[in-house]
Amino acid sequence: MTPRPLDIAILGGTGAEGSGLALRWAKAGHRVILGSRSAEKAAKVRDRLNAAVGEGAVRVLDNRAAAAAAEIVVLTVPHAAQRATVEDVRAELAGKILVDATVPLVPPKVSRVQLPPEGSAVAAIQALLGEGVKVVSAFQNVAAHALADLARDVDCDVLVCGDDPAAREVVVGLARDLGLRAWHAGPIVNSVVAEALTSVLIAINIRYKASGAGLRITGVPDVPG
Ligand SMILES: NC(=O)c1ccc[n+]([C@@H]2O[C@H](COP(=O)([O-])OP(=O)(O)OC[C@H]3O[C@@H](n4cnc5c(N)ncnc54)[C@H](OP(=O)(O)O)[C@@H]3O)[C@@H](O)[C@H]2O)c1
Repeated sequence: MTPRPLDIAILGGTGAEGSGLALRWAKAGHRVILGSRSAEKAAKVRDRLNAAVGEGAVRVLDNRAAAAAAEIVVLTVPHAAQRATVEDVRAELAGKILVDATVPLVPPKVSRVQLPPEGSAVAAIQALLGEGVKVVSAFQNVAAHALADLARDVDCDVLVCGDDPAAREVVVGLARDLGLRAWHAGPIVNSVVAEALTSVLIAINIRYKASGAGLRITGVPDVPG
């Protein structure tokens, strides 16, 4: 678990995945800022989240101001918007951890693995930003609707990939704050597995008429949060 409350900005935090992460981090006591291109849209999501977890737990700013105000920046925008969003906030990311949940899905065939030419969407962002930003890949396999349902635990482990072990450890702690089991899964290049696995889980959901396919790592003693 994280030893103290953190200021966490979620760029694209008005969306399904980002708002689910925001809800559970705010409930865990972190100070959450939703980054958005639309103040009106973000205010609606903020009010919905605060109604669930308490007034003032979540606030909103534009993406750049949110990234500037936070210690940890989380990216939850569609793959098509990933690079442009990062470039827009690049100056504000210096020295910080960027947690990237991007899955490079290519609609309409989202149940088919179609990785970008760089191999991994998140590794490409680490290459873009260089060593001054510690990019950590996480949450690609965690369904937004599961995060949004506070009445149930999320039945999915989290693979946490990144080149900096200390930054990975911070994100493992943040995943545990959400009530999830999370694992150090190696360097950022390994993110390709988590990104591709999402299409596999979607294919399983379609084949078995389910919505909850998730990931479990077995054979490793559980690490206490
Ligand atoms: N949904 C899931 O279950 C799930 C699970 C794991 C990982 N993910 C990954 O998480 C990311 C977000 O998924 P999502 O389902 O939450 O997506 P989403 O709801 O479609 O979009 C998230 C937010 O991104 C912003 N956005 C959308 N288009 C944009 C653009 N062209 N330029 C800049 N910002 C844009 C919007 O925020 P504003 O309009 O407020 O700026 C939007 O609310 C994706 O990469 C996805 O693969 C999703």
